[in-house]
Parts: sequence; C-alpha cells; structure tokens
Amino acid sequence: MKPFFAGNWKMYQDIQTSSFFLEALLRRQEKLQTVDIGLFPPYPFLGLFQQKLKGTSFLYGAQNMHWEEKGAFTGEVSPLHLKEFGATHVILGHSERRQIFKETDEEINRKIFSAQQHGICPIFCVGETLQERESQQTKTVIERQLRLGLKNVSAEMLEIAYEPVWAIGTGKVATPEQANEIHVFIKSWMADHFPKSQVRVLYGGSVKPDNIAGLMAQKEINGALIGGASLTFDSFEKIFDYSAKA
Ligand code: PGA
Repeated sequence: MKPFFAGNWKMYQDIQTSSFFLEALLRRQEKLQTVDIGLFPPYPFLGLFQQKLKGTSFLYGAQNMHWEEKGAFTGEVSPLHLKEFGATHVILGHSERRQIFKETDEEINRKIFSAQQHGICPIFCVGETLQERESQQTKTVIERQLRLGLKNVSAEMLEIAYEPVWAIGTGKVATPEQANEIHVFIKSWMADHFPKSQVRVLYGGSVKPDNIAGLMAQKEINGALIGGASLTFDSFEKIFDYSAKA
C-alpha cells in the first residue's frame, strides 16, 4: 500500500506561511511516486491550495464539513463548498471535534456518508482517551466508533486514522507496537464488515521526524496524520522522507 502522509494544520498558519510551505512542497513533486501527501489547512486557505496545487497530485482538503449541501447553518461549510475549491479529502471525527465540539458518532456518520456521496474521501479518525485505555476499554471504544461511524457507508472511498487521544499534541507517542496492535484490530474489524476492502490506516498522535521510521516499520501502519510537526515544511518533509535514511 502506498503510504499516505497527511498534515492537519488545525487552527494554525497564515496566508504567507501557507504560501511558502506550498512553494517548498512543489519542489518535491518527484516524491509523489512513492508516497501520497495531503494537507488540511483552515478553510480560508483552500483557495490558495487550489491555485497552487491544481494539476499536481498533491492532495488537500478540509478538517471538517457539514453533511448538508446548503441551509440555514450559520458558520458551517458544506461538501459543495469543498468541491468548489477542489478538495479531494476531508478529516472527519477528529478527537478535537468529538471532545471540544461534542460531535457524536451519529453526526460523524452523516458526514462520512455525505462526503462519499460528493466524491470527497473521508479520513475517519478513531481513538481512545487515556482514561479509556487505562480502564482496558480501548478496543470497545474503537469498535463502537467504527460500527456507528461507518454505518451504511462504503469502504471504497475511505481512509482511517487511529489517533489515541492521549498522544495528540502531548509529545506522548504510542509505541510502534501499541499502535500496530490497534491497527491490526481495525483492519480485522474492516475485513469482517467490509470484505475485500483495502483501507489504509494512518497513525496520528505526536508523530515527529524522530519517531516516524519506527512507526512505519510496523506492518499495518500505512502512513500518518501529523499535527504539530506538519506546520513547518522542514519537519513535514523529514516525515514523508522517513525512508530516506533507511
Ligand atoms: P499532533 O496532532 O501530531 O500534534 O499530536 C495529530 C492530530 O491531531 O491529528
């Protein structure tokens, strides 16, 4: 499976830093033969992404979207808006959306369904909190997130990201073995519920240039969803070049 490295910029960057980043990225187009690279900026920068990345194979998209095409939903952004800006992907179910903005499994499911209907590939995030891990609930929680989040959707156009909540932005990365164990669990659940599906499972949570090689050495880790370390081109490049030194 071709590895996928996705940068989640959250509520960071500005037009100028985004622009410099994209210029640097465009100089690395040859890399696209061996890995997929995607970026997820704040919504207002999508026009810049479309302008700079049009005609390349770099992927980009949004960090969220509403499931409806239009309506009186002040502050929301629809799949049609994302399509207008050429977005190919959308991150859905990120733990910050679940925890801070109280998104439910059912809402995330509606969003995944809608994204697929509009030809936008969801990166569906699942993951347990520290408390859930410590009380041996990890697999129960992930099973519920998968079951409810993927109800009546297709596995044809889908990426999954395993992001243990306790590892996001904390510097505490899951060990490669801890991560791989859950990736194996997710893939076997997918095989049972979506036979023949070939879904990539990315790892996310404090991925950095110095821990990516260990994570990628695990058989079932197919790439990474990177927050903090995707904000400078230098560290993002070291991550997607993880095998350069190998
Ligand atoms: P982090 O964020 O790499 O800064 O831990 C990952 C994410 O939230 O997707």
